[in-house]
Amino acid sequence: MNILLSGGAGFIGSNLVMYLLKKYPDIRILNLDKLTYAGNLENLESVNNHPRYHFERGDICDRRLVEQLLGKHSIDAIINVAAETHVDRSIVGSAEFIQTNIVGTHVLLELAREKNIAKFVQISTDEVYGSLGPTGKFTEETPIHPNSPYAASKASADNFVLAYHHTYGLPAVITRCSNNYGPFQFPEKLIPLMIANALNGKPLPVYGDGMNVRDWLHVADHCSAIDAVVRRGRVGEVYNIGGNNEKPNLELIKLLLKLLGKSESLITFVKDRPGHDRRYAIDSSKIQRELGWTPSFTFEQGMKETVEWYVQNRKWWERIISGQYKEYYASMYAGR
Ligand code: NAD
Ligand code: TYD
Repeated sequence: MNILLSGGAGFIGSNLVMYLLKKYPDIRILNLDKLTYAGNLENLESVNNHPRYHFERGDICDRRLVEQLLGKHSIDAIINVAAETHVDRSIVGSAEFIQTNIVGTHVLLELAREKNIAKFVQISTDEVYGSLGPTGKFTEETPIHPNSPYAASKASADNFVLAYHHTYGLPAVITRCSNNYGPFQFPEKLIPLMIANALNGKPLPVYGDGMNVRDWLHVADHCSAIDAVVRRGRVGEVYNIGGNNEKPNLELIKLLLKLLGKSESLITFVKDRPGHDRRYAIDSSKIQRELGWTPSFTFEQGMKETVEWYVQNRKWWERIISGQYKEYYASMYAGR
């Protein structure tokens, strides 16, 4: 199987590249990544010289490039992981989100149709469903109701994917996953940001009252779910993926501090994110029932290993937070 995996230099993409190369002796992966601020080839050092892996720096919006790559590498399947992914950035400006997440997905869909690609897997998010009250979970039938510009761009892409299946019979599937954690997550997202700040003795900025609830899934379990969907997912379907680990942010942050042996006095409440979704929870019984997928990490084990990884790989995140990230951090958190 020859796979075009877009966004393979990001957090989930790089974990997925390594997961697939390790699991399948016959798979070939072409990683097409624009290397935005979130793309990092250091994530892929272990597979750089792998004979069945090829990296191409480029934009999924570049139709000519993608068309050429599909032919040159005899691509059978596309996994579209590439995206602008940070809600806070989408609140500051959403043009890039519309460009990559909607226009880029549309370019891939058009070419998948023209080139008769055997499977198109769109990596989406539970955030397209909007926010839940204190009870209930998102199922695949929950109407989409995106609240942030990020979620709106992902929901729009999902609509295009389903429309291309319905209208043209494109063999496309969508996955909607909850919050991921694990190695190589860019340190602007909650868990690596809190770990890095705690290790540097800096305040941990908790939005609002810290009682927003997210469901956490280890990235390796997300990878095994995507793999199941690529292999056996029914086309035209949506599959929810979740970890059954719903935690208020404050509880999660306190656990991180405990694992790091740091004081809770670092916790600092800051102004809330505008439009901040209160609660996400995922019903993933469909993928469990139809594709036999189950997560392998317990929350406790996954968090422990993740904290250890960031402690041991300090150089990886120190290099990131010492660069352009400094400006981002100042603009997002100063005076908040
Ligand atoms: P990330 O921000 O870490 O990585 C995104 C990658 O996409 C980067 O390598 C970046 O360079 C690349 N990219 C961005 N624009 C591109 C373009 N125009 N062309 C080619 N490459 C481009 O993101 P992530 O957290 O790994 O998320 C990956 C996917 O999973 C996204 O589609 C996201 O919506 C979805 N998702 C993420 C989570 C999560 O918790 N991280 C949860 C559910 C779904
Ligand atoms: P994030 O990692 O940005 O993921 P998402 O918003 O896509 O779920 O944030 C996870 C939760 O953590 C969310 O409720 C916002 C909150 N949060 C903070 O309280 N402080 C922070 O500095 C960040 C980045 C997030």
